[in-house]
Amino acid sequence: MAAVKTELLDLAQQAMSKAYVPYSKFSVGAAIETSNGHHFSGCNVENAAYPEGTCAEAGAIAAMVLAGETQIKDIYVTGQGEQLVTPCGGCRQKIREFASADTMIHICGPQGVRKSMTMEELLPFSFGPENLI
Ligand code: THU
Repeated sequence: MAAVKTELLDLAQQAMSKAYVPYSKFSVGAAIETSNGHHFSGCNVENAAYPEGTCAEAGAIAAMVLAGETQIKDIYVTGQGEQLVTPCGGCRQKIREFASADTMIHICGPQGVRKSMTMEELLPFSFGPENLI
């Protein structure tokens, strides 16, 4: 298994501490390393119209795209609780858009990385840009 990138883990945890979650009280942080080696992070941001909240992964992806980058090498997602904080269905598709065969998704908790997986493992038989004719 590849070494844990502690800088990215720290970035995800720092982002999680900024989450705006007055409704769910469930903070999530995400940090991306692009294929160019640059880092971007995001936290979940909720609002009173519950379905309009945004996930941590979406925030990190938006920051990456704003900076002109589109290749995710690693994404670290961190949250609380006993269960693995795996990206929701919508975020799987959002990550997929910018993933390649070697993209790794790392699911983390307070102690560090709990599970790492490929995009194919996280979202098998996915539909992506290459599927469009
Ligand atoms: N959440 C994320 O930020 N990422 C995920 O992939 C799973 C869910 C957030 C959305 C909402 O603010 C809170 O976690 C509870 O669902």
